[in-house]
Amino acid sequence: MTQKGVTMVTRRDVNIGIAATAAMPAAAQAGARALPPPNQSGGKPLMAALKLRRSTREYSERALSPQALSDILWAGFGINRPSGDRTAPYWRHVMVMDVYAAMADGVWLYDPKAHALAPYMTDDIRADTGMQDFVGKAPLNLIYVAHGDRMVDVSPEDRRLYASVDAAFIGQNVYLYCASEGLASVFRGAVDYARLARRLKLPEQQFVTFAQTVGYPKGE
Ligand SMILES: Cc1cc2nc3c(=O)[nH]c(=O)nc-3n(C[C@H](O)[C@H](O)[C@H](O)COP(=O)(O)O)c2cc1C
Repeated sequence: MTQKGVTMVTRRDVNIGIAATAAMPAAAQAGARALPPPNQSGGKPLMAALKLRRSTREYSERALSPQALSDILWAGFGINRPSGDRTAPYWRHVMVMDVYAAMADGVWLYDPKAHALAPYMTDDIRADTGMQDFVGKAPLNLIYVAHGDRMVDVSPEDRRLYASVDAAFIGQNVYLYCASEGLASVFRGAVDYARLARRLKLPEQQFVTFAQTVGYPKGE
């Protein structure tokens, strides 16, 4: 469907996109890491969390608790309605973003439907997720990866633009969750994109938008 020169995505397209996402984690069938249910009633009031939101670049090396990991992923881009829609808005109702979690024990792909982590690779690639020293030791680096091929009739520039906005909303959700829970975080664009895409073995049509480090503040 075309409107004023813009190709609109139809409900059928949307459904294809969602189906594609549902089928996404090839590795989810085996070895998935279950997460405890997210704590959806906790946390500080929104205004108090906003008051505390900030970027932090010094982290404890301590691994995140399973509950914190669950809550971070759900707050970032979990499913919050029976429709399957998410805690963050996304471009034209087309599911473009995947959230990868790079931790000491490897890289995991967040499966929002199962609220689980699908094993993606066993390598510790944390140091390759950014150009700053703390990324290699912080317990969690989220990597926001876009499926460019799902953005039909969109120029490469606009694909990056819309995917970046999707990632930014997820990033802010994570920031606010961290502020609420006393965790440290920083959203990052200082990434060697080509190297990280190679390290993640991303297909040509997928690209990294941003990364985001999360952990306990240094000394905790
Ligand atoms: C698009 C974007 C990219 C960013 N990239 C980085 C980065 O690569 N490394 C970093 O340490 N901080 C990065 N930041 C965090 C900003 O430096 C930070 O938000 C800004 O200095 C304001 O500080 P605050 O978040 O504590 O308020 C980025 C923020 C945004 C929005």
